[in-house]
Amino acid sequence: MMGDQALYDLTTPVFLIGFMGAGKSSVARKLARMCGVASLDLDAYIERREGRKISAIFKEDGEAAFRALETEALRELAQDHDPLLISCGGGIVVSPENRRILKDQGCTVYLVVDADEAAERISDKSSRPLFNDLASARARLQERVPLYEEVADQSIQTSGKGVYAIARELQRCLEGSGVICLRHE
Ligand code: S3P
Repeated sequence: MMGDQALYDLTTPVFLIGFMGAGKSSVARKLARMCGVASLDLDAYIERREGRKISAIFKEDGEAAFRALETEALRELAQDHDPLLISCGGGIVVSPENRRILKDQGCTVYLVVDADEAAERISDKSSRPLFNDLASARARLQERVPLYEEVADQSIQTSGKGVYAIARELQRCLEGSGVICLRHE
């Protein structure tokens, strides 16, 4: 126990998916602090491994090269010995292989956001090479919604909610389905 904080263990990897601006990384960080579980952001992991920002990878090598790195990282982390809470990039569902991993190798939670709210939440759009204007973001989201829904075990509506409220909802949903359990020490 850390103070009087209850600590939890993950019984299986948890993948947070959803469009850019859904709050995947912030919610993963918040839940990790609240429950004492290990979390990792897939984009940050790729950036550390490559020694470059995601925007530089897109600019220098193109989207296909980024997608290959993304699949490699997901494959590797999904098999990690200790299950992790992994926040994924918004385009993770585009690849059929990634969708298979998300369906078969853990619990996948879809954080639902609409394009307008996503645009308001993303302060630095230069870090998102695929978030251009609102119209194209809406179209991209519409294409992806069926893919997010296809792989999701659970979904959480995030509109109008703050990071803490979403993280609490996620905690309840993971506890309810036995994906996180109180740690017995
Ligand atoms: C992408 C989303 C980004 C990042 C990359 C591509 C996408 O992650 O992986 O820019 O295709 O939607 P976030 O969803 O964390 O912004």
